Amino acid sequence: MIESLLREWSGETVIVRHDRPTGAWILIAIHSTRLGPAGGGTRIKSYPNLQAALQDVFRLAEGMTYKFAGPGMPYGGGKAVIALPGDFDPQARPALLRRYGALVHQLGGLFFTGPDVGTSSADMDIIAETGAPYVFGRTQAGSGAGSSGPATALGVFTGIQVACEHLFGEPSLRGRRVLVQGTGSVGGSLIEYLRAAGAQVLFSEVDKGAIHRFRDELGLQFVSPEAVYTMECDILAPCALGGVLNANTIPRLKCRAVVGGANNQLADAKDAERLQARNILYAPDYVVNVGGAMFLLGVETQGWTQERVEQEVVESVRRALREVFELAATEGIPTDAAARQIAGQRLSATE
Ligand code: PHE
Repeated sequence: MIESLLREWSGETVIVRHDRPTGAWILIAIHSTRLGPAGGGTRIKSYPNLQAALQDVFRLAEGMTYKFAGPGMPYGGGKAVIALPGDFDPQARPALLRRYGALVHQLGGLFFTGPDVGTSSADMDIIAETGAPYVFGRTQAGSGAGSSGPATALGVFTGIQVACEHLFGEPSLRGRRVLVQGTGSVGGSLIEYLRAAGAQVLFSEVDKGAIHRFRDELGLQFVSPEAVYTMECDILAPCALGGVLNANTIPRLKCRAVVGGANNQLADAKDAERLQARNILYAPDYVVNVGGAMFLLGVETQGWTQERVEQEVVESVRRALREVFELAATEGIPTDAAARQIAGQRLSATE
């Protein structure tokens, strides 16, 4: 099974390290270096088995290739997964992060990284102790750019405006019902943008503290995790984990569009067609969640100000998503296929 996964993956290289002291698996997938060094976040979580972790890192790395190629950024797609054993001792984490940083450093620039699901700017500070200069998104106190969540959220917010423009003829969010799944660093910031724009915000979350904050303190409507896929809304914004759009959920959706920050929202390629058949407008995740990457790289390699980042994110997501929706409409293909086609042109133009 692992053999066929490796054989069928469209990427270039995968580095597999069994971290003996903890039993964790460190996986670094280099999907493409055609446009430049491969970059992508470091995801840390537990998986049912090594195969599931490999599958995740492969698809995430591929998504990064499209994410960079779409807006013409000079980077390739990569991703790292650290798959923790079920009995992982949190005390062992800093040392594990330092060993991982040393591995990234050894690769000598083939791969660079930053935060992702399960990692924070504080983790990047530790990884950078051994992994610099290939580690982005350290804390500001650690001379990094800080959290990429707000910039990612701004791009998703822009994507929601473009979807409304496409569906309703105007980008205004006033009174639109938007259901945000996950209120972490991206979802939480997205909610702020949505409220400021006059949208009616609903949210779903599993963390008790966050439920309290958004429901009891901000007065937002809470939707239980089971009800997310049947809740009537204009826009569903998945901002938690991947695979939420699948054969089981798509037939039940009662939204007009899906626009969110999570990577790999489609469980598999067929799901893009399922959404199209149900006439649900899908904004490909890697098109609208590019803001985090733009923020980290813009601030840390180009010296961009906060203002410049915001301008670049808004303009680039707006331009890219409009292009994707137009191409999909004229060719009658799923939006995901249109986005891949556009990114594919950028990739083959440099061959
Ligand atoms: N993990 C985020 C993403 O997938 C941010 C990130 C981008 C981290 C690029 C490292 C490199 O976009």
